[in-house]
Amino acid sequence: MTQKTLVTSALPYANGSIHLGHLVEYIQTDIYVRFLRSCGESVIYMCADDTHGTPIELNARRQGIDPNDFISRIYDEHRRDFDAFGISFDYFGSTNSEENRRYSERIFKKLLERGHIEKRAVELTFCEKDRRFLPDRFVRGICPKCQASDQYGDVCEKCGSTYAPTELVEPRCSICGTPAVRRASDHYFFRLAHFTDFLKTWSEGEGTLDAAILNNLKSGWLGTGLADWCISRDGPYFGFKIPGEDDKFFYVWLDAPIGYISATERYLANQRQTEGNGEHALDYWGEHSDARIVHFIGKDIINFHALFWPAVLKGAGLRLPSKLAVHGMLTVNGEKMSKSRGTFINARQYLDLFDPAYLRFFYAANLGSSPEDIDLSLNEFRLKVNAELVNNLGNLCNRSLAMLKGKLDGQVGESRDASLLAEAALAVRKAREAFAGLDTRHAVRAIVELGEKANKFVQDKKPWETAKSDPDVARRDLSTVADVLCVIGALLSPVVPSIAEALFAQLGTRPYSFRDLEDFVRAPGPLLKAGHQVGTPAPLIGRIEASVVDSLIAAPKTEAPKSDVAVAGTEKAAPAKNAQTRTAAKTAAAPREDAPKAEVTFDDFCKLDLRVGRILSAARVPKADKLLCLSVDVGEEAPRTIAAGIAEAFANPEILVGKKVAVLANLPPRKIRGIVSCGMILAAGDPQNGLSLLEVSEAIAPGTRIG
Ligand code: MSP
Ligand code: ZN
Repeated sequence: MTQKTLVTSALPYANGSIHLGHLVEYIQTDIYVRFLRSCGESVIYMCADDTHGTPIELNARRQGIDPNDFISRIYDEHRRDFDAFGISFDYFGSTNSEENRRYSERIFKKLLERGHIEKRAVELTFCEKDRRFLPDRFVRGICPKCQASDQYGDVCEKCGSTYAPTELVEPRCSICGTPAVRRASDHYFFRLAHFTDFLKTWSEGEGTLDAAILNNLKSGWLGTGLADWCISRDGPYFGFKIPGEDDKFFYVWLDAPIGYISATERYLANQRQTEGNGEHALDYWGEHSDARIVHFIGKDIINFHALFWPAVLKGAGLRLPSKLAVHGMLTVNGEKMSKSRGTFINARQYLDLFDPAYLRFFYAANLGSSPEDIDLSLNEFRLKVNAELVNNLGNLCNRSLAMLKGKLDGQVGESRDASLLAEAALAVRKAREAFAGLDTRHAVRAIVELGEKANKFVQDKKPWETAKSDPDVARRDLSTVADVLCVIGALLSPVVPSIAEALFAQLGTRPYSFRDLEDFVRAPGPLLKAGHQVGTPAPLIGRIEASVVDSLIAAPKTEAPKSDVAVAGTEKAAPAKNAQTRTAAKTAAAPREDAPKAEVTFDDFCKLDLRVGRILSAARVPKADKLLCLSVDVGEEAPRTIAAGIAEAFANPEILVGKKVAVLANLPPRKIRGIVSCGMILAAGDPQNGLSLLEVSEAIAPGTRIG
């Protein structure tokens, strides 16, 4: 039986938008998964939204909506962003699912039965006004050690000491600002110390953890002794109620990783329905399974994955992770992402400007297997993509296929240049080893070097000359390059699948996988058959212009990413601070739109040519996630094209067809993302918080004046 692999990325908080920092992880994981698939391995890629916890509950409350609605809105947005970046989850679920409730309860019961969970009273900080207990990050006060003011309930940012929120001097609730009091409450504690020896052995397992991470663990909690871990929270809380309790819930970090299991369960249940395949989650997660489980995570959540999670799995009698693939944090232009500098770039801001392939390529070219931070220097981003992807690989493809097509009827010949094919086989070996070891940087290196060699080969052999003097030689050389392009397509496919696909289309062949190249690696020889007709050459990918890169940073100032909405890390990061920044950013940005406007005269109003328009078609605009391209009948000879920034509000733009809407018809035509837009559709609200087009009843004909 072949070995099964289950790969996960950490579950993103359903608390804000996906940003370029998250994408380091999802792109890295996706490359690995696509590589394994390309090798013909049996692999499934599981993920889900992490939907529970105080920050989500508070954010929903602030927006006046039910947390279930809040998380389902985010879910749609996350899925769309992941799709756009080509993240190929086999299943993307939610921790707020029935399967996850079932597994969480089951695991909790098991741990309780086995004596790994204890219930006892503790003193906590409580806000009498909000009538809630305050998690560490929701209480601020004076540091008990250094007396610095305005510190969080868990750690002082001035002196670095850690303490319990009840030790803070003059604690205040960060939600409403009133003084916090102490109050006792019963809580459930997971006895992590029971697993000390087990964790020491597990973490030292061959290939489980990076050496540097292991050392940190040993000199940290694993060395100094493991404290009990509180796994319950008092209401109000958005999460799963603890069986037998009235107002206590599982702490989000208990049910979040269990989401890996429940996503697997749900995925396999769907598979069973459609394919009659009989696997269950326990075929992966059961104690006796021999599946490889690989978790990709950022270094900020190591303790959860290297201590709590394996201990919970062990305690519940489940399969342990085989490997934690830990990556570093993203910096932009050498600094932590920051809203005020405009470097907190979310997925959609990027997608409005660039092909996702560029970012995938850049991350791949910079990521190694160790958890170093990765820097997105925007200048380097542009230079690297232009030099390696566009000039080197793109040009190789374009010039050689254009010559083969233009001068030699596009026909592949029989013979090849053996030494260039041998180079290609060597590159496959190098890339394969690098991808398998998560060293995508070296995999990309091997691909780019092969491109350089092939370009040099073309330069030396001058097929544009030999095509006239000795066409057989020219055909041999260009057929060799066409084979090399097949290899490059296969090697690139985990990194930039869309480009690989375009490359294969131009070669006029089915895609090649790593598996397809196994024989070639052993005995390099022709890949494309003699007589094979290549497809139509076209530029593979466009260059990045400096001005566009600049606008990536210049653009976002007004809209802070929603990841900051409140609390980028349930109880792991700095909620209150972010929440305040967010509110400030919002009010700062709002006045221009929301404040009452200056008076206008009736004559001013009459200058607007408002008309009824009927939407004839509505389509998404490639690479512009916010835009819809509409064709609108406003009673003229021909319909107008109008680009409207409303795409995010319509998962299915088709539903707009036939609607009668209000159109401002005398705006001068304007070019928006390549579309000449003639007019504007009137709408209320905005796509994030609900948007409604101003509709006109069926009886009114297109072109009718509004006013
Ligand atoms: N919800 C938890 C994970 C639960 S897993 C059972 C969480 N969510 S997160 O949205 O904050 O982060 C998801 C993943 O993205 C984490 O692995 C995190 O390390 C990664 N990243 C988030 N911001 C990042 C950067 N700025 N840079 C690199 N990775 C980052 O943690
Ligand atoms: Zn309060």
